[in-house]
Amino acid sequence: MTIKKVGVLGCGLMGSGIAQVSATAGYEVTVLEQEQKFLDKGFSGIEKSLAKFAEKGTLKEPAEAVRARLKGTTNPAGLAECDIIIEAIIENLGEKKKTFSALDGIVKKDAILASNTSSISITEIAASTRRPDRFVGLHFFNPVPLMKLVEVVRTIATSDSVFEAAYQFGQSLGKVPVRTSDKTGFIVNRLLVPYLLDAVRAYEEGVGSIPDIDNAMKLGCGYPMGPFTLLDFVGLDTTYYITQVMFEEFKERRFASPPLLKRLVMAGWYGRKTGKGFYDYADPNNPVPQKF
Ligand code: 3HC
Repeated sequence: MTIKKVGVLGCGLMGSGIAQVSATAGYEVTVLEQEQKFLDKGFSGIEKSLAKFAEKGTLKEPAEAVRARLKGTTNPAGLAECDIIIEAIIENLGEKKKTFSALDGIVKKDAILASNTSSISITEIAASTRRPDRFVGLHFFNPVPLMKLVEVVRTIATSDSVFEAAYQFGQSLGKVPVRTSDKTGFIVNRLLVPYLLDAVRAYEEGVGSIPDIDNAMKLGCGYPMGPFTLLDFVGLDTTYYITQVMFEEFKERRFASPPLLKRLVMAGWYGRKTGKGFYDYADPNNPVPQKF
């Protein structure tokens, strides 16, 4: 199975990152979005990121050559020739099923379909297509151009050859793939989410302040970011959504959202992207910890 052309659904933070690493690895990439303005925003982010890599001398060719392999479209027919299609649209099961079921009739019969979802069941999304055997999860991490990991997720229906091809595709992007199965949260979120939620509970219980808990985990464990910095970076809305799916699946307290996380989400304070979360980002270079 030879993969030459890559399709990406969605040009947000994750979709644009996946498109960028695919083009950097030499693939022809087409990104599908609903509106041109989302493509423009995503591609402008890609150009900035490529410029940083070019400046550091880590690209094998000029940034323009990578950029030339990236196309945007608002027409699903633009993905007809792709060998693999990776979805990174909104985390909503209904939207994902609708998108894949429409694409199923457009893309090549032997194309591999993949979802970048962090918590929705791959099996259930795959069931909206007539090729669940050719469906996998490919879960990338934010920021995609820098994070080395990709989780390759198989369902009970995924064929061995498709799973292996998806694994090799992950390697070809310069990532380190890990094999996992379609259990909610896969490997990383299964372990990361209870840790992040426990940090919020520790704060609620007065164990330490937000910067003290962050510094403790950064300097005591060598984590690149403390839990509150990471929560704000990932997005509190995203984390809250993941906790809901995980709690629904496992019915265990460790996956349940602490009240404070829910309150921040209800207030519309989603972290870095809205300017406020556990920190205030009025000056993005100097986040100020909040007190609750
Ligand atoms: N493209 C290119 N270069 C970039 C970049 C991008 N998108 N983002 C940052 N950089 C560059 C910076 O310019 C900087 O370059 P410099 O060394 O020349 O100054 C370099 O990368 C390092 O960045 P920073 O100095 O800003 O900060 P760090 O050294 O802390 O690295 C980080 C940033 C890699 C994000 C690091 O903090 C980190 O690993 N944090 C943890 C991230 C993490 O855990 N992500 C996973 C989240 S969970 C997830 O995604 C799953 C989902 O399902 C929830």
